[in-house]
Amino acid sequence: MDKLVIEGGRPLKGVVKIGGSKNAALPIMAATLLTDEPCVLRNFPKLRDTLTMIKLLRSLGKSVEMTEDKLTITSKGEANHVAEYKLVSTMRGSFCVLGPLLAKLHKAKVSLPGGCVIGIRPVDLHLKGLKALGTKMEIENGYVIGTARHLAGAHIYLGGGFGSSVLATANVMMAATLAKGETIIESAACEPEIEDLSNFLSAMGAKIVGIGSPRLVITGVKKLHGINNYTIIPDRIEAGTYILMAAATGSNIALQGGCYSHLMALIDNLDQAGVKVIQEDHLIRVKSNKALKPVSVTTYPYPGFPTDLQAQFLALMSLAQGISVITDKVYPDRFMHIAELNRMGANIRREGTNAIVQGVKALHGAPVMASDLRASAALVIAGLAAQGRTEIHRIYHLERGYENLDDKLNALGARVFREKE
Ligand code: EPU
Repeated sequence: MDKLVIEGGRPLKGVVKIGGSKNAALPIMAATLLTDEPCVLRNFPKLRDTLTMIKLLRSLGKSVEMTEDKLTITSKGEANHVAEYKLVSTMRGSFCVLGPLLAKLHKAKVSLPGGCVIGIRPVDLHLKGLKALGTKMEIENGYVIGTARHLAGAHIYLGGGFGSSVLATANVMMAATLAKGETIIESAACEPEIEDLSNFLSAMGAKIVGIGSPRLVITGVKKLHGINNYTIIPDRIEAGTYILMAAATGSNIALQGGCYSHLMALIDNLDQAGVKVIQEDHLIRVKSNKALKPVSVTTYPYPGFPTDLQAQFLALMSLAQGISVITDKVYPDRFMHIAELNRMGANIRREGTNAIVQGVKALHGAPVMASDLRASAALVIAGLAAQGRTEIHRIYHLERGYENLDDKLNALGARVFREKE
């Protein structure tokens, strides 16, 4: 296994290209199970998680071919309805094959994804929505077994204790596209990734009204067709992470291919911190002079501040001049990175769902352990800003969500390389 070594303290400069969104690509890939016709995806991000989804689609009877940033998915032989533990357990995104399998094959056996270091992560909302459409659900030996002779439209409230659910909305919406009659999802997730999935489904022939809003009205159709060319939206979390890297290192960089409007919650909070992010000539430009003011943020479902940027923002605030409070209302336990950031000289303590950050003048390089994808990104930010050498262990987490991270950073003037453990 490799570790990532960062020789920190160097400002970044230049332009970085943002790839396709992981969290849009995963449900869109699952949606291709709704048709037997070929689907071609563009701006496809080559990541550990999307490669896992390719394996899962193949195991379900699809043939998948990848060239450059293009993915072609076609049907091959008989479809299989069993999503195995070894593929679903490594990545929660796999669970969104449940809705499409039920809609297309009227049966599905999908491994429960289980919890992970960012929290317990139940699937009750997925099951509630799919049951409302007429699925009989049983849990047996760690698998969800669903059968549905006919799916029928229903009026469903999908809000939970932590707000809307991204993948539950995806699962129920995908199933509803082929259900008989009208489905209304109230408290649907409004994340751009769900909007992208809705646009993809519409391009396949689905009838969806209210795209991007918390009330989706889906009128079931008999059949969905393939798509010749669908371009996946840019990854707002990858973009936000590069913006925060520039902010933490006092750098001026530009992002190519990112979507400014998807990043407004981050941009607004950075403005208060003294970091300017502007849109100019199809680029997103970041200007930071390292004099950071403390800003307290709370994560919420979109359009609130994203939980997937909480760890990275916390790393930035560890260098602000004063105290900030970071609260995660989506995943209250997503704070594994605090201990590792403190190893690098940060001064952060956890109180319940809050991280209380007392900014320090500088961070210093240290050996640290990546615990999950976004926590790893926070350690990269800290490593780039720190003086000296940082070694990040277990970097396979990073490969789940950041394409060519080392190459992109080195092209921006950082010194980042891999070493064998
Ligand atoms: N929740 C429930 N019941 C459910 C489903 C969710 O209580 O049935 C709770 C969760 O425990 C959490 C909240 O609802 O407290 C929101 O979770 P959500 O279902 O929206 O998360 P998800 O759909 O499983 C996606 C992303 C995550 C991202 C969250 C929140 C994908 C593949 N994953 O997960 O991305 O953090 O939405 O925005 O789209 C990442 O990319 O690093 C990542 C973890």
